[in-house]
Amino acid sequence: MKGRIFSGVQPTHTLHLGNYLGAVRNWVRMQKEYECIFCVVDMHAITVFQDPAELRHNTREVTAAFMASGIDVAHSVIFAQSQNRVHAQLAWILNCVARVGWLNRMTQFKEKAGKDREAASVGLYTYPVLMAADILAYRATHVPVGEDQKQHLELARDIVQKFNTDFGLDCLVSPEPVIGGPAARVMSLRDGTKKMSKSDPSDYSRINMTDDADTIALKLRKAKTDPETLPGTDVLDEKGLVKAEAEAARPEAFNLLAIYAALSDQPVAAVISDFAGKDFAGFKRELTDLAVAVLGPIGAEMKRLLDHPGEIDKVLANGAARARALSEPILKEIEEAVGFLPS
Ligand code: TYM
Repeated sequence: MKGRIFSGVQPTHTLHLGNYLGAVRNWVRMQKEYECIFCVVDMHAITVFQDPAELRHNTREVTAAFMASGIDVAHSVIFAQSQNRVHAQLAWILNCVARVGWLNRMTQFKEKAGKDREAASVGLYTYPVLMAADILAYRATHVPVGEDQKQHLELARDIVQKFNTDFGLDCLVSPEPVIGGPAARVMSLRDGTKKMSKSDPSDYSRINMTDDADTIALKLRKAKTDPETLPGTDVLDEKGLVKAEAEAARPEAFNLLAIYAALSDQPVAAVISDFAGKDFAGFKRELTDLAVAVLGPIGAEMKRLLDHPGEIDKVLANGAARARALSEPILKEIEEAVGFLPS
């Protein structure tokens, strides 16, 4: 094994194509080489109000999405964050290590809190510290995520450094972010400058993993484009990557091309060369077929799994027991380092 992976998804809405291509699909691929722990982070979800019944449903639905995408529960651990109290206990200790100045720099807090910061929950503010606790409780070595989580992972690394310096030990392990590929940042279908997000009020901005073929076709037909035909290979630099100026000038076109590349497992350069000079209508039809072929079976399997919520709960209970067994001894060492008496 090359190391231990930890990653998570919030159960705040049905997962979308960004979550799948930016995170979950990569997890499935890394499973064979790493020991894996995947978490449905319900404690992160309640940093903004969640309807309790919906939260329960979404926690099961995200679990179903992990399983339907190909996470093998016999090998990898899947559990709900609130079912392992170690996360909350470690988060408190790390809250006393992280500095207010560090949290003040977190762009995601600024975006989520909006203009009325005073009205945001304290949990939303210390959200990245809980995320650090998630990872550090397992001494995870690698964290595969989309690009939007990069700053949070840097904070986790800062916490490790300060903790180890303060207490003169190598108790915590610094995690390596694993971010990359054409889908590290999938953008909204309505505005190519905004990331595809669960919280966008317009459902036309994203493709959900549970969308049926007609809905996917409709959303892609309506996806924003521009009046030109698809770009040619002159937009590529010598490494075969899209030049930044070209991408900034046509964000929607390059977002759809990147989605096509990720879904078909090709470099963006190959997709650009295939569709150079063609019109969007035909390209969108091919993209629809591809998205339906990839997401259709996953959505169908999610529905099948969700018809048996008891089975999903069993998977989570088993995963939580494994998660506790892995993290409790690590928490004990950390508590001892801090100076707590044994409990
Ligand atoms: P969340 O629930 O917002 O997103 C889950 C995963 O999907 C990725 N992602 C995207 N990737 C590409 N394009 C997009 N448009 C896009 N939108 C989301 C995210 O980067 C993430 O990998 N804070 C985390 C959850 C978390 C976590 C952790 C992750 C809690 N603890 C510990 C890793 C390790 C979050 O809100 O993800």
